[in-house]
Amino acid sequence: MKKKKPQISRRDFIKYSAIGLTASTLPVSPGCSTLTKSNAPVEECQSQNLVSNIRYKTKVFAPANIAGIKLNNRIIRAATALNLPAEKGKLMATDKFIEKFTELCQGGVGAIITGCVAIQQNGASAFENALLIDKDIYVAEFKKISDAVHKFDTSIIMQIGHDGPITRRVNTGAATVAPSAIGDKSYTEETPKALSEIEIMEIIDNFISAIGRAQRAGFDGVELMAAHGSLLSAFLSPNSNIRTDKWGGSTENRFRIIKKIIKRAKKQFKDYPILVKINAYDFQSDGMRVKETVKIAKLLEDAGCDGIEVSSGVAGDGFSTVRVYDFPTEMLLTHNFNYKDMSPALKTVTRCSIPLISWMYQYEPIYNFNICAAQQITEAVSIPVIVVGGIRKLNDIEQIIGNNMADYVSMARPFIIEPDIVNKFKAESQTASECLECGHCILALEEMPVECFYGEVP
Ligand SMILES: Cc1cc2nc3c(=O)[nH]c(=O)nc-3n(C[C@H](O)[C@H](O)[C@H](O)COP(=O)(O)O)c2cc1C
Repeated sequence: MKKKKPQISRRDFIKYSAIGLTASTLPVSPGCSTLTKSNAPVEECQSQNLVSNIRYKTKVFAPANIAGIKLNNRIIRAATALNLPAEKGKLMATDKFIEKFTELCQGGVGAIITGCVAIQQNGASAFENALLIDKDIYVAEFKKISDAVHKFDTSIIMQIGHDGPITRRVNTGAATVAPSAIGDKSYTEETPKALSEIEIMEIIDNFISAIGRAQRAGFDGVELMAAHGSLLSAFLSPNSNIRTDKWGGSTENRFRIIKKIIKRAKKQFKDYPILVKINAYDFQSDGMRVKETVKIAKLLEDAGCDGIEVSSGVAGDGFSTVRVYDFPTEMLLTHNFNYKDMSPALKTVTRCSIPLISWMYQYEPIYNFNICAAQQITEAVSIPVIVVGGIRKLNDIEQIIGNNMADYVSMARPFIIEPDIVNKFKAESQTASECLECGHCILALEEMPVECFYGEVP
């Protein structure tokens, strides 16, 4: 009889069992650390109380412009993968896609950033319907989406990226960015291999081709995905980039790949707007820190980048990119461990391990967690800065923009539960998002189209 494959690798089993023992010796994770529960404060960021009676509503809702991209207001829908049914990799501008984007437009969004579209096959996210823009044949389908959005006088920016060393185990709560040289991703490999010079040049070429396709598909600009442990952010972070050649080491070297992409694209596609989403900090030992990100922000400006979106965290590192409030144990067991198929013994071990993992991966607070970093970046550069992460209240948005902590805000989860959140804010029929921060939309992402489960386990 064929031997049944274990549902959890031996490596993971040992790791999870050992977590409880080792957690207390783990290094402090700096960043906006006065804002995190388990980490000691560091000098980089101060926790901020945004509550104020001074209103800046007019500024938030006035039309704006980023390098020619027209915005209806300063509240942007952040990149959110939809995982809507599509033929493997291939965008189908189905009614469902159009419907989702139409809802956002009708709901008053300032502008839309799409979920990440992969520049090449092996750079696509782990979920089944990850989108690709690696061939010209996809341009027409994407054009249907941009046309649908433009009917509402709303701008749409395509986020393009390469998922890099994030592996399929992205939702298991394990840190998956191997501390090895920058690697190309293969779902079957535990550790990414180092990219060769030729492969790096190919990746740059593929980014350029993708930008050209986005432009031809009528998108108002692109956003390079250089956050959350994706390939470009793995180049930036000293934690994941331990190369000793011209692509690693100094800040300039780690930035080189992004610089080359922006410079070439600017030359080839004239003034086509290019934004970049970066991590201000990533909770990794020797990883990204705000001070370093400020340097990178200046390099982005020098390279010709038109705007920076400030995020944090690594997708494979628990919930550090989204900071869920309470670790969603049941959801994790149902959707991410093949729990149902485990032997009773393994089930017991897994159940016992979860609280330990959960204790390890508590990232607080849940609100406004990148503001302090965005403020430092805003002060350092003159290009527009967008801040994302736990922004939920109209008053907070007004304070962020009114006090120049950032030029724009973006939100992801609030638009999943309420695509019309901006209209609600504008009318003040509601002044805070209904999002519970349950994390279920993220956990279900690999298996089903994105929706709000409002704390329920589907
Ligand atoms: C379901 C889901 C899908 C996401 N997909 C992407 C993505 O494709 N690209 C990206 O840069 N960020 C993605 N994110 C992260 C968000 O853009 C954002 O950085 C993060 O959710 C924090 O913002 P929020 O607190 O407003 O949700 C996703 C988030 C969620 C919840």
